Amino acid sequence: MKVAVLRERREAEHRVAVTPNSVKKLLGLGLEVAIEAGAGMSVHLTDATYEQVGARVMADADAALEGAELVLVVQQPKAAELARIASGAVLIGLLDPMANKADMAETAKVGITAFSLEFLPRISRAQSMDALSSQSSLAGYRAVIDGAAKFGRAFPLMMTAAGTIAPAKVFVMGAGVAGLQAIATAKRLGAVVSATDVRAAASEQVESLGASFIAPPVMEDAETVGGYAKELGNEMRRRQAKITSETLTRMDVVICTALIPGRPAPVLIDEDMVRTMKAGSVIVDLAVEQGGNCTLSKPGEVVEAHGVHVLGHRNVPSRIAVDASSQYAQNLLNFLTPLLKDGTFAIDWEDEIVQGALITRGGKVVHPRLAG
Ligand SMILES: NC(=O)c1ccc[n+]([C@@H]2O[C@H](COP(=O)([O-])OP(=O)(O)OC[C@H]3O[C@@H](n4cnc5c(N)ncnc54)[C@H](O)[C@@H]3O)[C@@H](O)[C@H]2O)c1
Repeated sequence: MKVAVLRERREAEHRVAVTPNSVKKLLGLGLEVAIEAGAGMSVHLTDATYEQVGARVMADADAALEGAELVLVVQQPKAAELARIASGAVLIGLLDPMANKADMAETAKVGITAFSLEFLPRISRAQSMDALSSQSSLAGYRAVIDGAAKFGRAFPLMMTAAGTIAPAKVFVMGAGVAGLQAIATAKRLGAVVSATDVRAAASEQVESLGASFIAPPVMEDAETVGGYAKELGNEMRRRQAKITSETLTRMDVVICTALIPGRPAPVLIDEDMVRTMKAGSVIVDLAVEQGGNCTLSKPGEVVEAHGVHVLGHRNVPSRIAVDASSQYAQNLLNFLTPLLKDGTFAIDWEDEIVQGALITRGGKVVHPRLAG
């Protein structure tokens, strides 16, 4: 069975869906791998590197897709490439189905069976496939690096003959996968770190990383049965805003990661709060593509307002594309392997993981969150 790997064409996308290591494993599963020329260039993987491990490098997407029954991507292919995928082929990627509903309908129309890894159930059997976690963790790391680079001062306490530099104060809003990695990274750089979340369970995780947990004195636990956060009611939102306002005046770098699945990102920082922050401080808004946790952040821009820089980089995992690609390629491989037997598809359509990630099949958008 032929597997096609495409060069990514979306803006600010530098990742690639397979690495030489994952190609070797795909070949070991009895597959033939055809990769579009230049697919790995943005992560320093040359065509020759892929050829050396046994992939066939094809001149363009058309040639790579010719006769392919499986297509591996990072993001949803653009219309021109989508139309070249054979009816009945399987497409696997991080297709962002909620934001790309029209594309999902088009994918179904072409007759593609599409799986999107964002929709994997977060059960322990799916942990090795969990691309959201692998990518969010790297985004959390990168957000702190970006924040530190923009901040005109050092992070650690430095006692030198020329005087003492106080450690930076970093505040992480949202302590999920990205937030916890942001906390760990800021700690490693020597900052004094605090964090907040609306899930009560997060406080122990924050404290186990050596950060302090900041929350209103009385706060309801906003965790759903699925382990995610839900939107706060007005009273809780008011209490959170009060403590956020008090906290921000003391902070140097703020990393925003708060999200609610399927909803716009919660607004946590407004312009009045930014106005009270110290000149030279930095806000990194990882939620910018979902609307932003800070009202001043703009997707793809660095905004300066009231002496504060607000960073709204898009696609932050792609800003650390080498590691993001290798982790993603491994997630893809771990998802794909149980779908195969003797080099061909043997999909158990009743399986919870298959059902969770399946977006289109038989000419229809079938996922319950998108269908109808
Ligand atoms: N395989 C697994 O079992 C698995 C894998 C990854 C994550 N998880 C769990 O899933 C949950 C969600 O993690 P995630 O990183 O995907 O979350 P996410 O990306 O959806 O959200 C990020 C964080 O923002 C927080 N948040 C939402 N509204 C907020 C607000 N108003 N103020 C402050 N914080 C707010 C959420 O509680 C969450 O911690 C966590 O409990 C995590 O441990 C489980």
